[in-house]
Amino acid sequence: MPAVLFRSTSDSAPAWEEMLKQRIPGLDFRAWPDVGNPEDIEFVLAWKMPPGTLDGMPNVKCICSLGQGVDHIFADPGLPEGAQIMRLVDPWMSQAMSEWVLLHVLRYHRQAPEYEELRKSKTWTALPAPDTASRKVGILGLGALGADAASKIAALGFDTAGWSRTEKQIDGVKSYYGEDQLMDFLGRTEILCCLLPLTKATEGVINAKTLAALPKGAFVINSGRGGHVVEEDMLAALDSGHIAHAALDVFRTEPLPQDSPFWEHPKVDLWPHVSAQTNPVSAGDQVADAIRKVFSGEAPDNLVDPKVQY
Ligand code: GLV
Repeated sequence: MPAVLFRSTSDSAPAWEEMLKQRIPGLDFRAWPDVGNPEDIEFVLAWKMPPGTLDGMPNVKCICSLGQGVDHIFADPGLPEGAQIMRLVDPWMSQAMSEWVLLHVLRYHRQAPEYEELRKSKTWTALPAPDTASRKVGILGLGALGADAASKIAALGFDTAGWSRTEKQIDGVKSYYGEDQLMDFLGRTEILCCLLPLTKATEGVINAKTLAALPKGAFVINSGRGGHVVEEDMLAALDSGHIAHAALDVFRTEPLPQDSPFWEHPKVDLWPHVSAQTNPVSAGDQVADAIRKVFSGEAPDNLVDPKVQY
């Protein structure tokens, strides 16, 4: 049997090995750096593998992201010729992501940062009660994650819209699409949630211009990728008060450097890239299915289109 190579930044190799061998008895599973003969490797399970990891592995047929994003794979300019790229699409992760997004939508809608501020001066006062039906929430990206979050936000009664590259039909969610409609979408959005894939087209999409297009006092929630945000522009928008508060789970450099101003920023809710962690148990069936298909010459599910990189 051909071999599977596992390389991740976390120590999840034993859990993946156990889970995959339960599904594919006798699987030849090799965890980096124990590659053995590199020519045996046909399937790669990867999370942020350093560029060049697959040099000298001419038989790699498929590289599967250990997460929902594949930007970390495309970051390697020397991927084996003709290898297919696939990602996880896991309802367990979509649920986790929607919970994290909802946590912050509700937090901002219900004025939690304002009440936390008032508490500091022991001020017992009522702010005007917010109205759900007129609260405009907008989701950037309506893929597997964005669509799930948008439906759940809409189900709570928020005025919900989404923006994506192409038009989408989701019950209760107004669809904005394409470059042309981005500014209109931002202009109506009081709570912005970014769940886009990181591609050449979406790099830096949250920048001085797009932040300025949001109404004054808007909130930003980012659990897409750090690369979506121009960090200096975000800090400037928070400091000027144009953006009231931001919830950030992802950053350009991770782990976030000790000297990053985000750590201590009073208007930032900061999380260490945990909004939707990968779970080998829930993702196991689809990875095992992909390995079986690739080893028997079939195309696996959830392949990424290299042209659009998602
Ligand atoms: C995590 O960030 C993922 O891509 O699943």
